[in-house]
Amino acid sequence: MDNKDLEAEIHPLKNEDRKSQENLENQSKNEDNLKSMPLQSRLSRCRTVAFFLSLFICLFVVFVVLFIIPCPDRPVSQGMWRVDYNAAVTYDFLAMEDVNRDRIQDILFLYKDTNSSNTFNRSCADEGFSSPCAFVAAVSGANGSMLWEKPVAQDVVLVECAVPQLRDSEASSACVLVGSPSPFLAVDVFTGETLWSRPSSFSRNASILSPLLQVPDVDGDGAPDLLILIQEEKEVNGHIYSGSTGHQIGHRGSLGVAGESGSLLHVTRTGAHYVLFPCEGSLCGCSVEGLYETVTGRDGPFKKDPHWENMLNATTHRMHLHSSGVVRYLMSVPGKAGKDVLLVSSEACELLDGQELVPRWTLRTSQVLRKPILGHYRPDALAVVIENGTGMDRQILLLDLSSGAMLWTHTLPSLPGGPPSASLPTADHRSAFFFWGLHEMVSTNEMETGAAQHSLYMFHPTLPRVLLELANVSANVIAFDVVLFEPSRHAAYVLLTGPVSSDVPGLVSVTKHKVQDLVPGSRVVRLGEGSSDSDQAIRDRFTQLRYRSEA
Ligand SMILES: *[C@@H]1O[C@H](CO)[C@@H](O)[C@H](O)[C@H]1NC(C)=O
Ligand SMILES: *[C@@H]1O[C@H](CO)[C@@H](O)[C@H](O)[C@H]1NC(C)=O
Ligand SMILES: *[C@@H]1O[C@H](CO)[C@@H](O)[C@H](O)[C@H]1NC(C)=O
Ligand SMILES: *[C@@H]1O[C@H](CO)[C@@H](O)[C@H](O)[C@H]1NC(C)=O
Ligand SMILES: *[C@@H]1O[C@H](CO)[C@@H](O)[C@H](O)[C@H]1NC(C)=O
Ligand SMILES: *[C@@H]1O[C@H](CO)[C@@H](O)[C@H](O)[C@H]1NC(C)=O
Ligand SMILES: *[C@@H]1O[C@H](CO)[C@@H](O)[C@H](O)[C@H]1NC(C)=O
Repeated sequence: MDNKDLEAEIHPLKNEDRKSQENLENQSKNEDNLKSMPLQSRLSRCRTVAFFLSLFICLFVVFVVLFIIPCPDRPVSQGMWRVDYNAAVTYDFLAMEDVNRDRIQDILFLYKDTNSSNTFNRSCADEGFSSPCAFVAAVSGANGSMLWEKPVAQDVVLVECAVPQLRDSEASSACVLVGSPSPFLAVDVFTGETLWSRPSSFSRNASILSPLLQVPDVDGDGAPDLLILIQEEKEVNGHIYSGSTGHQIGHRGSLGVAGESGSLLHVTRTGAHYVLFPCEGSLCGCSVEGLYETVTGRDGPFKKDPHWENMLNATTHRMHLHSSGVVRYLMSVPGKAGKDVLLVSSEACELLDGQELVPRWTLRTSQVLRKPILGHYRPDALAVVIENGTGMDRQILLLDLSSGAMLWTHTLPSLPGGPPSASLPTADHRSAFFFWGLHEMVSTNEMETGAAQHSLYMFHPTLPRVLLELANVSANVIAFDVVLFEPSRHAAYVLLTGPVSSDVPGLVSVTKHKVQDLVPGSRVVRLGEGSSDSDQAIRDRFTQLRYRSEA
């Protein structure tokens, strides 16, 4: 505090004295002003003119901006659209990106057909494939118009989008695809142009394990590089490729054990990169540094973690874990410090500490046959959605991620292989959840024939005793997601439906439906007593929901 203030606090009256003195001085000045009136009045008239003139100019500018210069055209977004292919099959893949840079998310998907849609008139033969072949397509999220599509391979076994690329020193994004039998290529997300294409070097018997992993830049070109795990002759091999050219770095590196899809790239709290994957009923792993040394024969830019090296058997690459059971899913989830690992096995769901790999909590349940998803049940606190069981007993459990405490549970029957759940953050720092289930009125007869329709339910934690049935779908759902197309209100679901078998072509459709348009026609499902609001009041609450983008 400076001295003046201090003094003022000690002698508040003195301060007031000074103020009244100032007032007196001001008064005497005003009296002086009154004496020089004639000159002043001429000046004040000038001032008035200047004031009105500038006011007029301001208003004129405002009117020009408001009415004469037109607003830039905002693309009109349709609440619902649908794209059909009559004799095609499709893949479990959907990606969102603003392809045409109109600030509305667009949709990328894959299908297998003889020709592309009529808009682009591309055939498999154009790229040297026999018919039918796999196409990548990008459709506008605003109105479903085709932005680009192109044949990429005979068949696609692995695809990953949002892979950063450096082209002409400009940051770009690519979808990397592994075709069967060949090629291995990257396609520019914004133009559909092929960035690079290489014949793939995998043997015919090899099975490629998903997903495609992105490791930090090892070849020094500024773009992340790619790691693919491939099972060749009952052994998993790691292959590292340059992300910007597709060239293989070194040779294949054997991990000495058979594995399955569902691998995960984990960064420990000490900054070491490890690949984890389900293997022969347990969890295996290896450091990216170790793998890099194996494939190139020299030291790489990565770290190893002494604790993790102790936990890994150097010959079998198996992890020494406290838990047992066949590993089904691995997920990297945000923890208190760095990432933790959520592990779903045939005996339990466990949250493992990302550094020590000891369980933070365990939920004993053997029936989890689907990869969990995350969302917020309480404001800013992550929750995990676990589906326990299939058929008539399927339960949806929402658990607090940090403690494993049960937050909400509901039995919602579903067929095995029904569409997956989704969540979308809302403006109140919670999430809206979307679950699929069989309609209550469905008969066991329909269930047996598999002809039953799936219903899409929406749930928000502020209305825990209510589900909103948004839609009924009888087609076979291949992929589903809920996406925020534009900030705030434009949340919509995207549904990819197609034939059950990839050998029998049929109708393939991509549909977008805005959530807010579905709410007025939805059915309110009450879960027990407790909510006295009318159906309309509940629908209004859902209509008023605002969404935010994942950050
Ligand atoms: C595919 O395109 C070729 C040439 O453009 C045409 O001859 C053929 O009839 C088309 N096939 C289908 C199924 O549309
Ligand atoms: C499509 O391609 C075929 C043969 O390549 C050609 O005859 C036809 O005119 C093309 N159609 C359009 C709309 O470009
Ligand atoms: C669809 O929207 C895009 C912009 O997102 C626009 O360029 C195109 O003309 C629209 N097409 C139709 C058929 O409305
Ligand atoms: C592929 O597997 C079959 C049987 O599993 C075997 O006979 C064949 O030699 C293998 N081919 C290669 C190239 O390894
Ligand atoms: C690694 O596993 C092999 C085979 O199970 C075993 O013989 C060996 O003792 C293990 N090594 C260590 C350090 O535990
Ligand atoms: C999961 O489902 C099985 C049977 O479907 C049941 O026995 C078990 O109690 C459930 N687990 C939890 C945690 O609800
Ligand atoms: C779904 O179908 C059931 C009966 O088949 C019907 O009662 C319900 O209103 C439908 N829901 C919607 C949202 O259309």
